[in-house]
Amino acid sequence: MIEVKGLTKRYRDRAAIEGLSFELEEGDILGFLGPNGAGKTTTMRVLAGFLPATSGSAKVAGFDVFEQPLEVKRRLGYLPEQPPLYPDMTVGSYLRFCAEVKGIASKGLKAEIDRVARLTRVDDVLGRVIANLSKGYRQRVGLAQAIIGSPPVLILDEPTVGLDPLQIIEVRDLVRDLAASGKHTIILSTHILQEVTELCRKVLVIKSGKLVDFDTIEGLRSRHVDGKELSLEEIYLRLIDPTGELRHRPAEGATPAPQTPNADAGSAESAPQSAGAPSPEPAPAGAGAETTSSDGEPPTKAAAN
Ligand SMILES: Nc1ncnc2c1ncn2[C@@H]1O[C@H](COP(=O)(O)OP(=O)(O)OP(=O)(O)O)[C@@H](O)[C@H]1O
Ligand SMILES: [Mg+2]
Repeated sequence: MIEVKGLTKRYRDRAAIEGLSFELEEGDILGFLGPNGAGKTTTMRVLAGFLPATSGSAKVAGFDVFEQPLEVKRRLGYLPEQPPLYPDMTVGSYLRFCAEVKGIASKGLKAEIDRVARLTRVDDVLGRVIANLSKGYRQRVGLAQAIIGSPPVLILDEPTVGLDPLQIIEVRDLVRDLAASGKHTIILSTHILQEVTELCRKVLVIKSGKLVDFDTIEGLRSRHVDGKELSLEEIYLRLIDPTGELRHRPAEGATPAPQTPNADAGSAESAPQSAGAPSPEPAPAGAGAETTSSDGEPPTKAAAN
């Protein structure tokens, strides 16, 4: 259902993802993991057709993401990090707009809007202006637009971020229901490993834009034992910080520990990232590279998905 081969995305001289390859079958639910700045959002935007790749190929539902983007968008629901909402629209008119863009026939439009609104529990705010909604409700509206038309592939970039505990549970339940329906192949990026354990069958870990591991959760567990079964959190930390160096870094201002001559410290790969305590991303090579407009993304495109 999803085929990614040698996918590379560069921002000027900085590779956000490099030579990424993986395949997902129909019905797979993938937990997409990696430290801040690892390249998860970049990968998802490329797959969703919102960002051109530098090289490599990607197919979604049998269609080439770069050569047949409209076919892909018809079969894909995407919840970006920042949901593509129009603040001046009401929830109902926004969902109607999204449904029309997705090509839902006018006959079934109202029923489809009611269905996704009920599922994401925004049916009580359909008449409200998006700008006045709380963050949690906006996130749910973002989810609603992603699942309009029941697309076979869903790409959800940190869908529970910023939600209160009750809403987190609701969104997880919703993703679980979508997964259980067997109708969707889902890529879910998150920093909450419990979410992955609860919802996903497979896990892909990237670091500094490169694939670190890709397997089923059972497969990962069977390869990472240490006298006892390890939790996904322990396995994840081993994968992204194999030497434990990042976890045991001295706090800022503390006296630095003496350096071991052969320690893998200071490599560009490992220096700026930490799983336990997210650290700032490395600065971009050139300030001019840090623009979304350079990727040719008009805001209308985002809303059109
Ligand atoms: N428009 C851009 N211009 C330049 N560099 C960018 C741009 N977008 C992302 N990057 C860089 O690409 C790398 C990957 O970023 P990305 O947002 O994909 O990471 P992520 O895994 O989603 O991180 P997070 O967990 O914080 O959401 C980072 O180093 C980031 O600074
Ligand atoms: Mg991200």
